[in-house]
Amino acid sequence: MGYRTNTCNDLNKANLGQTVTLCGWVNSSRNLGGMLFIDLRDREGITQLVIDPNAVPQVFEKAKPIREEWVIQATGVVGARPDNMVNTKRATGEIEVNVTELNILNQAAPMPYNLEDPKASDDMKLKYRYLDMRRSGLLKTLKLRHQITQVMRNVFDKEGFIEVETPILTKSTPEGARDYLVPSRMKVGGFYALPQSPQQYKQILMVGGVEKYFQIARCFRDEDLRADRQPEFTQVDLEMSFVEEKDVQDITEELIAAVMKDVKGIDVQLPFQRMTWKDAMTQYGSDKPDTRFGMLMHNITGIFAKSEFKPFQSVIAENGTIEAMNGKGLAAATSRKAIDTLTESAKLLGAKGLVALKVDENGELTGAAAKFFTPEEVAALKAELDAQPGDLLLMVSDISFRVACFSLGRVRLDLAAANNLIPADKFNFLWIVEFPLFDWDFNEKRWVAEHHPFTRPMDEDLQYLQSDPGRVRARAYDIILNGVELGGGSIRIHEPQLQATMFKTLGISDESARHRFGHLLDAFSYGAPPHGGLAIGHDRFVMLLCGMPSIRETIAFPKTAKAACLMMDSPSTDVDPKQLEELNLAVVQPATPQA
Ligand code: AMO
Repeated sequence: MGYRTNTCNDLNKANLGQTVTLCGWVNSSRNLGGMLFIDLRDREGITQLVIDPNAVPQVFEKAKPIREEWVIQATGVVGARPDNMVNTKRATGEIEVNVTELNILNQAAPMPYNLEDPKASDDMKLKYRYLDMRRSGLLKTLKLRHQITQVMRNVFDKEGFIEVETPILTKSTPEGARDYLVPSRMKVGGFYALPQSPQQYKQILMVGGVEKYFQIARCFRDEDLRADRQPEFTQVDLEMSFVEEKDVQDITEELIAAVMKDVKGIDVQLPFQRMTWKDAMTQYGSDKPDTRFGMLMHNITGIFAKSEFKPFQSVIAENGTIEAMNGKGLAAATSRKAIDTLTESAKLLGAKGLVALKVDENGELTGAAAKFFTPEEVAALKAELDAQPGDLLLMVSDISFRVACFSLGRVRLDLAAANNLIPADKFNFLWIVEFPLFDWDFNEKRWVAEHHPFTRPMDEDLQYLQSDPGRVRARAYDIILNGVELGGGSIRIHEPQLQATMFKTLGISDESARHRFGHLLDAFSYGAPPHGGLAIGHDRFVMLLCGMPSIRETIAFPKTAKAACLMMDSPSTDVDPKQLEELNLAVVQPATPQA
């Protein structure tokens, strides 16, 4: 016989009278009226064990010292609980096991913190991740994550995709984040970079004739961490040859629909909505719009073309943008202090300020800026925003289209959250399409790729590639769920000449392009098929499906905001000097100690 006959979630009244053996951890142990009651827990559930000192005195003696989280094996007979002791919340709540034999498989030291305490510190929970895993919902999330991956693998397999692993020790990739570097022992001064994504490999796999590739791929990015970012994370990565946007979008929708059906029991409506980047920006102030609620933004630049209001005037003079939105009926609920908080949010995204006006009971606009508006402007604004008494009108103007939109978009989200306007039970998927190919970096005064430099321009915009890069739209698409960028991809450039022009526009010299991407340009010169693909942020998808606030809760061993693993105590400064010597490396302490 093995260790056990059943799991701790198996037994019910159908098993009455059976002799069973269970294994697991002691969830709790109580002595009630001289009898010992142990809640035994394994991965599947909890079963109550009863030890009666009169029936099994030796077992009772053996069980006495048992503490929380000891590992035990118990054999006994399944009995019915008295009616008043039935626990309807548990699958095994109608029965208990009357123990006849007991084996202590392992003891456990006293717990470092109260495992049931919802206020236990995050640091403790991360340091003792394995303890947190046993009791919290984490185990459930890991199971769900496995299930989601499994559903996707099945869809890929059915559709003829081949799973290919690509290297982790590789060369710098231009996804926009900082690389993690790994020193080489063989090549003095040589460094591998960990992949920010398998982007170049998967394109080269297309040149190699793989045609349909996927990988559950680990990616590494040394960037500032947030709730939906980790330094190492997982992508469901795919690439296909001889395809257009729709082909990649179709398979993505099939993957998502299968997961939603099999894991959540939800039938999602296909195809998902498509929205252009421009519409998303002007209406939602975001390239990842949350469409679960309205409160859309409006471009009101035209209304204030001749404005006397200084902030608007200066923006108009520089071809800027004015965006506005109506917080319907929210005037009374939004205090002066709340408006200050919204203003701070807008400023974080670059806005110079936030114009806030309230519509009083007579339909008049109140607020500092109102007196600078002409009656015509007020009438046009009210008509555009459908302003009624009790409404809160919010506006941002900026010389940068992106700053004006993003700032007010942030305000839209904050205002909705503060007033509980975002339904939690909706899953709104949509595609954002027609992204700009480039973004202007105001600091570095140069064009940067909005996605990555292998993204194909739209054919009709190719003519502007060198003369007016800001006007070129990309054959890129992002998949959005509830205001989170779930994934992104594009049709790629497959001709070496066009790729070279792209590098030139990005200010990458021929020499530098050769140096950094020679392998790709070479590969493209030997018959690259037209191709395209996409990557879904797997951790983010699991996070949203589990209703978790952070991707940390979906990863077995996540890092802190400082990119540290508290359990392994990494990164470690405790490196053998001999190892550094072999790598020809020396650590130089910073002049000012780091915090
Ligand atoms: P991109 O950089 O948009 O595209 O990444 C794809 C998706 O990966 C997720 N993601 C992250 N998740 C957690 N932590 C992070 N630090 C992190 N960074 C990104 C997001 C994102 O949408 N090679 C291209 C894809 C392609 O063009 O095929 C790429 O990596 O959900």
